[in-house]
Amino acid sequence: MRSQTSISQNATPKRSNKRRVFSGIQPSGDVQLGNYLGAMKGWAARQAEKENFFCIVDLHALTVPQAPDELHNQTRSLAAMLLAIGIDPHLSTLFIQSHVAAHAEVCWILNCMTPIGWLERMTQYKDKSSSQESVVTGLLDYPVLMAGDILLYDTDEVPVGDDQRQHVELARDIAQRFNHLYGETFVVPEPFIAEVGARIMGFNDPALKMSKSYSHIRGHAVRLLDEPEEIERTIKRAVTDSGNEIRFSNDPERAGVNNLLVIYKVVTGKEATAVEADFADAGGYGELKSRVAEVVIDELSPIRARYAELMADVTELDRLLARGAERAAAVSEPKAEEIKRKVGLVLPVS
Ligand code: AMP
Ligand code: TRP
Repeated sequence: MRSQTSISQNATPKRSNKRRVFSGIQPSGDVQLGNYLGAMKGWAARQAEKENFFCIVDLHALTVPQAPDELHNQTRSLAAMLLAIGIDPHLSTLFIQSHVAAHAEVCWILNCMTPIGWLERMTQYKDKSSSQESVVTGLLDYPVLMAGDILLYDTDEVPVGDDQRQHVELARDIAQRFNHLYGETFVVPEPFIAEVGARIMGFNDPALKMSKSYSHIRGHAVRLLDEPEEIERTIKRAVTDSGNEIRFSNDPERAGVNNLLVIYKVVTGKEATAVEADFADAGGYGELKSRVAEVVIDELSPIRARYAELMADVTELDRLLARGAERAAAVSEPKAEEIKRKVGLVLPVS
């Protein structure tokens, strides 16, 4: 167990010569295995090599209806979860988006130079808005808020799952447009997307991306806090195909088995050939599922235990998040001033 002091964050960070990483995650719904394998696990694994900012994007969560008390609780719970999976406050700045005013402010300025057509083309917007009768402005504007998040930190790399690629591309377009209009201001960020694991599929339907929004549907997702019995039940019920070949495959018909192998590969960190060799003598899909469940349970059990410890002291968690916001503001407030000055706003005299 780590001591309490190990979750303190140091004061103002200096720009190091390490590449700067920024990523975000929404405090909406239960964190699921796709979030972990496609994004969070990699954030933790690479944090010593990079200078990192990880943001709990509560303002993004408001773009779909949220019960206020649930949003409130999930925000803290997500902070504990990020620490539990290994985000180390000595190596990474962890903070809540709404604690740093520059994010919402700069979103407005970027809105005023982002063509609506760029936003209407976003596939996530098209998917999310098509099922709604009345679409709120924030849902369309969501990628501009995300671009501001990234650009405020002169970010080099944005590690995300595949579904966010288009949003990071948009952040690049916005950066280039601003630089063109007002002179060199922003670093043009690059998406960092894992070759394997960037798109974990639902266990109940391997044609559908695993998502927090469906994690309440039985058999869809493994949630990070699920008990071992529940994890086993979900994975044992996973949809596969009528064959018996345990190999990686791009064939949509075999997406269920491929998804199980991808999960096994990312959890164990083994090469694809070693993964297939592990299953060369397997009796069939039943055994594949049992062994995938076993490695997932082993991976998540210590995370669940660490999460429970962290949630037992929310005062400490809140203190840590306050320090994180200070460090984030130390970088983004001066950047926001530069942006305001460049577009012609008068800064208040201090
Ligand atoms: P969100 O749940 O939208 O806040 O996503 C947080 C991070 O998890 C983002 O980087 C997403 O791209 C990533 N992510 C979400 N779902 C999946 C999935 N099914 N497979 C891989 N990565 C995912
Ligand atoms: N839109 C991202 C998602 O839903 C979350 C996010 C918000 C983000 N701001 C970001 C990710 C900045 C990377 C960088 O997953």
